[in-house]
Amino acid sequence: MNIVKQAKNLRHEELQKWVQEISGVCRPDAVYWCDGSDQEYDELCSKLVEKGTFIKLDPKKRPNSYACFSDPSDVARVEDRTFICSRVKSDAGPTNNWMHPDEMKKTVRPLLEGSMKGRTMYVIPFCMGPLGSPISKIGIEITDSEYVVVNMKIMTRMGAAVLDQLGSEGDFVKALHTLGAPLAPGEEDVKWPCNPDVKYIVHYPEERSIVSYGSGYGGNALLGKKCFALRIASVMARDEQWLAEHMLILGFEDPEGNKDYVAAAFPSACGKTNFAMLIPPDNFQGYKITTVGDDIAWIKPGDDGRIYAINPEAGYFGVAPGTNYDTNPNAMETIKANSIFTNVGITPDGDVWWEGLSDAPPEGTINWKNKVHDPQSGDPVAHPNARFTTPASQCPSIDENWESPEGVPISAFIFGGRRSTTMPLVCQSYNWNFGVYMAATMGSEMTAAAFGQIGKVRRDPFAMLPFAGYHMADYFHHWLKFGRQLQAPPRIFAVNWFRKDEEGHFIWPGFGDNMRVLKWIVDRVHGRTAAIECPIGWMPRYEDLDFTGIDFSKEDFENIMSVDREEWKSELLDHQELFERMYDKTPKDFFFMRELLLSGLWRSPEKWV
Ligand code: GTP
Ligand code: SPV
Ligand code: MN
Repeated sequence: MNIVKQAKNLRHEELQKWVQEISGVCRPDAVYWCDGSDQEYDELCSKLVEKGTFIKLDPKKRPNSYACFSDPSDVARVEDRTFICSRVKSDAGPTNNWMHPDEMKKTVRPLLEGSMKGRTMYVIPFCMGPLGSPISKIGIEITDSEYVVVNMKIMTRMGAAVLDQLGSEGDFVKALHTLGAPLAPGEEDVKWPCNPDVKYIVHYPEERSIVSYGSGYGGNALLGKKCFALRIASVMARDEQWLAEHMLILGFEDPEGNKDYVAAAFPSACGKTNFAMLIPPDNFQGYKITTVGDDIAWIKPGDDGRIYAINPEAGYFGVAPGTNYDTNPNAMETIKANSIFTNVGITPDGDVWWEGLSDAPPEGTINWKNKVHDPQSGDPVAHPNARFTTPASQCPSIDENWESPEGVPISAFIFGGRRSTTMPLVCQSYNWNFGVYMAATMGSEMTAAAFGQIGKVRRDPFAMLPFAGYHMADYFHHWLKFGRQLQAPPRIFAVNWFRKDEEGHFIWPGFGDNMRVLKWIVDRVHGRTAAIECPIGWMPRYEDLDFTGIDFSKEDFENIMSVDREEWKSELLDHQELFERMYDKTPKDFFFMRELLLSGLWRSPEKWV
């Protein structure tokens, strides 16, 4: 092993052995233990600039920031190449790809052999959650990508302090990542190395380990995020009675200084980052929304009967297109400096551009395919799944308790998909079990961040379809059981910002105006506002939401709140189809709740608002 940088405080024998073993298999030119320092970050960014991977942005416009373009074959998570390799197939369930761990190991082993030749192997100690929090967990990512190291520095607590925390005996998740692009002696590297043909994102839930091969992008490669904090952690959570969820966490403060925290699950690219950083409209004087997290929540019961959540991440890996000073001013402020932009356009004056940032890109803007943008072509400047990587600490709305080791107490859960029809703007579940049903049957129209046909509705239970590390129906049982153990479980709500009118326009203004719905939700939690009973839950009346300052008529409200029988008939058929996919394990309760919905829809009046 040619160690070019050694860890000064390495005391963990098992870790040392594992690194030795991997280096023997992947055969890198050099091994480098990351200390997580700013100096290390700067050196690696410079190296990426030298290689042509990174383009340094104008330091006056965008200090200490870089942009890069990925290979066109490597632009998003690869759900069809993602595997849950539990020992028993029925533990992975019908919604995950599965292979027996022994067989998978035989399959990936030859790919890993020599996969890092010509490259440096980086060892990244990282902590998901604040260092020292009883909820946090440690992982070690081994990677041959400098891009991964610098992104992990922003997205996690990383480096020497984590090795101290790990000590000589601590538990850690083994996360091996390789680009699968070895270099022959003297061969020149490409700007975005990856394996365009072969990709494997593999999880061994019983071993708590991860192997990722062939991709350098986002959730495929930054293994602390979806692989660890959701897929592996959801299995730990099942075993240890907690929750690992695809949820943002926000704080809601009223003018009297009362504070509530809510956690909300929306599928990928469906508005978590926007909602987490919401700025209330002008008529909400004295109200404040603060940000704890924008993508992942780890939630544990406290000693006081409440549940507490932490954000295991330290940065945001957010969707760039659509982000601007109207839709998300806090994100715009966060990404002013010290950020990495992937697959956005680069302007001639050394700044970034994406669809929605302004009316049109400056002339001469380079698109994500590294060509001068031709406005006539109809091609986008940024890839629809273009992302920024940016430190959470720079967010103006960051919550004062975002790094609190015990987490923040959760008052409500919100679930929402992207639905142009069927689902109303907001609705409160009658109880915990029914809320679990609503979340389990959630559907969403697919975006560029998901695998499948864009625009088609797919069932995405709890926004966890691509992220549950075990059988989805066992996950439903886990949620039902979790609620039963709580004295006063949080209230559960469903929202839909994406309902469209007959001309195909969004009915709801969304973004900051989502505050109007959020306030109703928090008021409901405290019994401060009315609601009417309808077949799918409790709903606000027109007069229960504050529409001051926007043009939103009673008719608009009726349109966005309508529960159409014919639409719901096919909705409930889809629920049935989902349940039948996992028939042997679907909670019995769900079949009864579906029946209840069906009869309720036909027995109540056609209009409830
Ligand atoms: P991941 O990071 O992929 O998990 O997604 P996310 O849920 O954090 O997605 P994000 O907040 O980045 O969502 C981006 C997309 O949602 C963009 O297309 C936004 O324009 C759109 N969006 C967010 N909030 C709203 C809203 O209130 N109304 C409408 N119509 N669109 C919204
Ligand atoms: C998502 O797809 O839900 C993301 C982005 O948050 S990634 O980390 O690439 O999975
Ligand atoms: Mn996500």
